[in-house]
This record gives sequence, C-alpha cells and structure tokens, in this order.
Amino acid sequence: MMLVQDKVAVITGAASGIGESTALRYAEEGAKVVAADVDVEAGQATVDEIEDDGGEATFVETNVAEEDDVKEMIETAVSEYGGIDVLFNNAGIEGPLSTFADYDMDSFDQVVAVNLRGVFMGIKYGIEAMLADGGGSIISTSSIAADSGVMGRSAYSATKAGVNGMTRVAAMEYAEDDIRVNTVLPGIVETPMHHRAAEQKPDRVTRFEVSEAMQGKGQPERLADAVLFLGSDLSARITGVTLPVDGGFLIKP
Ligand SMILES: NC(=O)c1ccc[n+]([C@@H]2O[C@H](COP(=O)([O-])OP(=O)(O)OC[C@H]3O[C@@H](n4cnc5c(N)ncnc54)[C@H](O)[C@@H]3O)[C@@H](O)[C@H]2O)c1
Repeated sequence: MMLVQDKVAVITGAASGIGESTALRYAEEGAKVVAADVDVEAGQATVDEIEDDGGEATFVETNVAEEDDVKEMIETAVSEYGGIDVLFNNAGIEGPLSTFADYDMDSFDQVVAVNLRGVFMGIKYGIEAMLADGGGSIISTSSIAADSGVMGRSAYSATKAGVNGMTRVAAMEYAEDDIRVNTVLPGIVETPMHHRAAEQKPDRVTRFEVSEAMQGKGQPERLADAVLFLGSDLSARITGVTLPVDGGFLIKP
C-alpha cells in the first residue's frame, strides 16, 4: 500500500531542491501532484519526470506572493483532480545576506511577500478548499533560522518564525475540521539555495556554519520523507508541530 495513494498534493517551489524532491516522492507514493513554481521550465521538467515514471502531475505557473496566482493554483487542484488533500507551502527565498544597518527595505518587502504573505495565502486558500472536501494536511517549510536566528538573515529568520506562528494558529482554528497544519524546519540542505548562500562572503556577518550533530549535509530527499510522513495518515494525530529535520543542529550546544 502506498503512503499517499490517490491523494492530491499541491507543492510550491516544485521546480528545485526540497520542493522538487517532495513532488517526485509524493508521486512515487501514489499522489496526484500539482507542481507550482515561478520557474516554468524547471517546474515543467519536474512534471515530465513524474509522468515519465508513470505518475500523474500538472504544472501551474505560480508566484506565491500573488493572491490571484495562489487562488488559481488551488483551483487547478480542484478542477483537475477533484479536490486537495495535501498542501506543501515550500517556495521561499533567502534574500540578501546583510546586517540590519545595511538591509535594503525593498529586499525586506520581497522576502516577507514570498516567505510570509505567500505562506499565509497558501494556508488561507488551502483551508478554504479543504473545508469543502472533508479536511487535509498543510505543511509549510520553515527553517532552523526561526529558532536559532542566522546573522545576516534578519528578514529570512523573521519570516520563518512567522510561519511557525501562523501554523500553530491555523492548527488550533481548524483541528475540529480535520485539517492538520504543521511545519518542517530544515537544517542545512544541499540545494541550489544552500549553494548560493555558501558562496556569499560578506565582511560583517558570520557565515552559517555547518554544525549539525550528525555527520554529512542534509539532502532534499530526507526533507521529502518528513513531508511525506506529515501528509500521510501515519501522522493522523499530529498537528501544530514544528518538526526539525536538521541532523541535530538545534540540540547541539
Ligand atoms: N536549503 C536549505 O539549506 C534550507 C534550509 C532551511 C530552509 N529552507 C527552505 O526550504 C524551502 C525550499 O528551499 P530550497 O533549498 O529547496 O531552495 P531552492 O532555491 O532550490 O528552491 C526554491 C524554489 O522556490 C521557487 N520560488 C522562489 N520564489 C518563488 C515564488 N515567489 N513563487 C513560487 N515559487 C518560488 C524557486 O523558483 C525554486 O524552484 C525554502 O522555503 C527555504 O527557505 C532551505
């Protein structure tokens, strides 16, 4: 028996990294996938890979910061596949690496628009569709930056802490409707975002050191496993949690 057989899963940021791995993993486990991203070519490539492997998927060009796009993404799941069972709000940007005094306000607004407003709208419209369909599971990608803070990433850390806060509220508000709402907190994960961040070497900020308790760097497939668990019935009694998938980063002194 596959873990998410015939469930409909909407995944944002599905063109790359954690979102791409999760889209492939859900399809492997029997889900119909709506892959959403601003990157049309790479997003369509994720869908092509799923279909080549015999799975079902649809790509929707989506900027998660745009309300109409988010609505259309959810409506696509309903019109193509009859509803939505799982929503993975995963698209995110890191913004500039810059200390407070130098932080550019347009960049601040952009990080908030994608990482916070985008997730808020995903939860809002995801819930609306799930209420009409008997419940579901919403998972959003936070970060260990929400808990530990990362120097030079003030806006990013704030938005990820905000994702955890919104998740707890949504989990309480909709528990009775069988809508579960959780987050995953990745540590270091080897994706294009991590490689971009690792290349930045400013003078006045400490680079985020690889200091997880477990050896080696995290791989996107391990995040996909955790998101699969939270979207499947194996986690049927779990809601409102922020689940670190960080190789022990947060417990390391
Ligand atoms: N890689 C890490 O070490 C790490 C650590 C902690 C948290 N995260 C979080 O994991 C999530 C995925 O990151 P990743 O490492 O896979 O990064 P990535 O850059 O490889 O992938 C992010 C994807 O999101 C898409 N995207 C960006 N802005 C978008 C928008 N406005 N609308 C729709 N799609 C958009 C990009 O096109 C890309 O496909 C992010 O929320 C990130 O903050 C990553």
